Amino acid sequence: MGDAALAAPHAPLVCVLDDDPQVQRLLVRMLEVEGYRVIAVADGELGLRVIAEHQPDLVILDLSMPRLDGFEVCRRLRADPHTVTLPVIVLTAHASVDDMVASLDAGADDFITKPFQQIELFARMRSAFRMRAAVRRMEDAHAIVAALANAVEAKELSLRGHGQRMAHRAARLAARVGLRGAELEGVAYGALLHDVGKIGLPEELLHKMGPLTEDDRTVLRRHPEIGAMILRPLRSAQAFTPIIRHHHERWDGAGYPDGLAGDAIPLGARIVAIADAYDAIFAGRPYRPARTLEETYDELNRESGCQFDPALVPIFLDEMERVEAGLPSSVELPPAALLDLDHVGQPESSASPARS
Ligand SMILES: [Fe+2]
Repeated sequence: MGDAALAAPHAPLVCVLDDDPQVQRLLVRMLEVEGYRVIAVADGELGLRVIAEHQPDLVILDLSMPRLDGFEVCRRLRADPHTVTLPVIVLTAHASVDDMVASLDAGADDFITKPFQQIELFARMRSAFRMRAAVRRMEDAHAIVAALANAVEAKELSLRGHGQRMAHRAARLAARVGLRGAELEGVAYGALLHDVGKIGLPEELLHKMGPLTEDDRTVLRRHPEIGAMILRPLRSAQAFTPIIRHHHERWDGAGYPDGLAGDAIPLGARIVAIADAYDAIFAGRPYRPARTLEETYDELNRESGCQFDPALVPIFLDEMERVEAGLPSSVELPPAALLDLDHVGQPESSASPARS
């Protein structure tokens, strides 16, 4: 371990993995003078243990080391969820293109050859830290979305898993109609959180048995607006807030809250409306029995052009046929992690009606 006296206690911690004592000493000295805290280790296996124990902010990794070489260290760091985003800069005497490609394939973020310029190493480290800060912000936003999804499902236990099922189905439809990247992810998030506004509704209403009064309906119909309001401060939610606000609009203009019709309804909201109805009909709700697949298809077809976008219904049903047949989507889907959010660990309640 380097001399910590030069570094502030909260300075970034850098782990140097290099079996050459001369290079190790040089790096430790250089990094400490620059204000970093440093741990130096001479072999890969010990390096992994030290990283697990001290959780450094960045790793500088030599490729040829005893016991476990740099490629394997890198692969293992990427396979571990705790270190999957840990910045790794490979530093090696082998300047071959093959080594560089193999390092990047193993999961390294950057590659520097010895002898190296101090100024270049620091610039690459700063770039790696910037990248990690951006990834952390995305992870934070993802965690907020997961927490909100859990909050809705905690309030409506009978709908457990509904958001995730919808996210998956809506993403498949979105992908089929050509959405990609951020737009596709926005639909998945919008589907996952479409009913987040129900957090703001009285519990008695959400769990009410029997038919709703007109007053009940008026209150229930506020959930899309409340949902959009809840997400307004979250900058990363801007892409899918319109989906949450408009998921109860109808193609014929008779929906709420804004009575939008046709193409004026955001595409993501038209997609989520179909996926939401499909789940309510096919999976059933405590206040309505589940229907067969055929009946579900019939009902969606009947509402095509009235409640739902008529261009989307056949594509959705075709995609659901693939789902029911256990076939993968014919197009690329968002990362699995997006659709694999943690859920509340409470038992499902069959006594709590919930209205979608
Ligand atoms: Fe809803």
